[in-house]
Amino acid sequence: METEQYIRGLDTIGRLSEPAIRNAIKALTLPDECRILDLPCGIGSHMCWFLDEYPQVRITGADLAEEHIALARERLQQADKIRSCELVLADMNKLEFENDSFDLVWCCDGLWLGPKDMGCPAEEPYDILDGLVRITRPGGRVAVAFWSSQRLLPGFSDLEATLNATKFAMRAFHPSRRPELHVMRTPAWLRRAGLTNIEVKSFVADLCAPFDETKSEGLVTVCSYFWGQAKPEVSESTWEKYSSLVNPESDSFILNDINYAGLLTYTMYVGTKTSR
Ligand SMILES: C[S@@+](CC[C@H](N)C(=O)[O-])C[C@H]1O[C@@H](n2cnc3c(N)ncnc32)[C@H](O)[C@@H]1O
Repeated sequence: METEQYIRGLDTIGRLSEPAIRNAIKALTLPDECRILDLPCGIGSHMCWFLDEYPQVRITGADLAEEHIALARERLQQADKIRSCELVLADMNKLEFENDSFDLVWCCDGLWLGPKDMGCPAEEPYDILDGLVRITRPGGRVAVAFWSSQRLLPGFSDLEATLNATKFAMRAFHPSRRPELHVMRTPAWLRRAGLTNIEVKSFVADLCAPFDETKSEGLVTVCSYFWGQAKPEVSESTWEKYSSLVNPESDSFILNDINYAGLLTYTMYVGTKTSR
């Protein structure tokens, strides 16, 4: 995917998930004197939301993509929050932070596993998590969060179920992969990394009409991400129906329905590093 298109997606989809992520951040109940690492920080949205909720914390944002770091810096400057932040280029496979540096490591949508040429950081999560634990102080926490579900086509459950059952929709977790590598097995990953007091909580973002242009674009992008290339796997009539529902030019464009109500969820997994 082109960098510009990827960044646009991070921004528009980020606006849809914002209420869920803000509630996850709030549920962490952090003290004022807290050093946070946001890895990968993407374009810095979560750093802004952490600082809205906890204005006294210090937060480091790290990401592999220079373009994302540059945008994060711009965004934090515009929000007048840059003084509380540091931004660094980093590969989560080779973290150069000192041992015991952070009270909280926040890793949201950063541990989707798979081939590196698909943009994934690794095939297995274990070495990365060992690195995250190493840089967390004893008594500190590692919080890993993932987009975990969605309902996007209200009134068309059959259609949505058919599309969800395609290999294209399931490509982020190919059925041939080991079940223990599915993101919903994160508690086992955290335990294997030596973390304790594992907590799991899901957060919802309601998706309700009317939508502004950015949110509408974000929702169309999400549909296309999940189902955009599922055509060869479904019947012609299914594809026609789906295409008309997600086409902004069509009379049936589902997001123009003032009664549209969908949802998405994020699930957060938190573990604590044992004090020495
Ligand atoms: C889906 S985005 C999530 C960004 C942010 N956490 C959010 O939820 O908005 C994934 C991010 O991971 C970054 N990334 C991919 N591989 C990485 C690696 N090996 N080390 C650090 N960041 C990486 C990408 O540049 C991208 O910004």
